[in-house]
Amino acid sequence: EMAELAEMFNKMTERFMTDKAKLAREVEERSRQILRNERLAGIGFFASGISHEINNPLQAIGAAAESLISRIGDGSLGTELPASDLELLSTYLGMIERESARCQQITSRVLDFARGTNGPKARQDLTRIVAEVLDMVSHMSKFDCYQIEFDRSQPHFLDVSAAEMKQVILNLVANGLESMVGSGRLIVQIIELVDEIVLTIQDHGCGMTQDVIANLYEPFFTDKLNGKGTGLGLSITHRIVGDHGGRIEATSDGVGCGSTFRVHLPRAARTTNSSAA
Ligand SMILES: Nc1ncnc2c1ncn2[C@@H]1O[C@H](COP(=O)(O)OP(=O)(O)OP(=O)(O)O)[C@@H](O)[C@H]1O
Ligand SMILES: [Mg+2]
Repeated sequence: EMAELAEMFNKMTERFMTDKAKLAREVEERSRQILRNERLAGIGFFASGISHEINNPLQAIGAAAESLISRIGDGSLGTELPASDLELLSTYLGMIERESARCQQITSRVLDFARGTNGPKARQDLTRIVAEVLDMVSHMSKFDCYQIEFDRSQPHFLDVSAAEMKQVILNLVANGLESMVGSGRLIVQIIELVDEIVLTIQDHGCGMTQDVIANLYEPFFTDKLNGKGTGLGLSITHRIVGDHGGRIEATSDGVGCGSTFRVHLPRAARTTNSSAA
């Protein structure tokens, strides 16, 4: 009897310890989430104000450069200048136009981020949404040398906001392609489970350290230099997926070994407010 009692106590202690560890993990995860949400709200408020104000002058700069370029092009401006000066002028005007367009892209991304998401959800075919994004990507010259594998033969229906899902897919596909220098193959797959659909995006690129994986969804976390990336792509993605009651899983076998992102989405929109994935 003593032995039985001792065994029971041991089991109870064991259970307490695992419960305690589980609770501690949950508390830590919740705290991280709250901190992230607060930071998002703060950043969103300031950034959207600034982005909005900067957008108008940026548009004016871009339009002015464009108009000068077209006037040089049709010969109504600069004809008295030597050819070498005219060429220099065109080059610099082109730079002004391109770079102001890039700044506009960044500000609109920040606005997207600040505006939040949670648009209306309706029954959609995820295969079609992915195909539309991939068609768009195939027209982007910077991704000319990449191969994307995706089976379009089966429809997969679920309740989502198509516009938001496109943004999620584009962000993940772009990240996967950008992780591979110059060329490479990306595999996109949809797997249907009983109550969820899993979208997998697998690259053979630079891979991720545990440290990078831990910070993926932090706003402005980026390894892209010279303002080439905003570090907002995955923050926006994470929030959209959360708004759909889903979650993202990111794994990598380490630096140089590629990465895999899995987006789990419930097939039917959940009625509960499950905005934290
Ligand atoms: N497939 C991937 N392989 C390796 N690293 C990745 C991958 N996806 C994301 N990362 C890492 O996570 C960082 C954050 O990604 P995120 O999409 O949020 O921003 P970004 O791609 O740097 O900028 P933006 O999305 O605005 O172009 C990346 O800079 C990169 O370090
Ligand atoms: Mg990105």
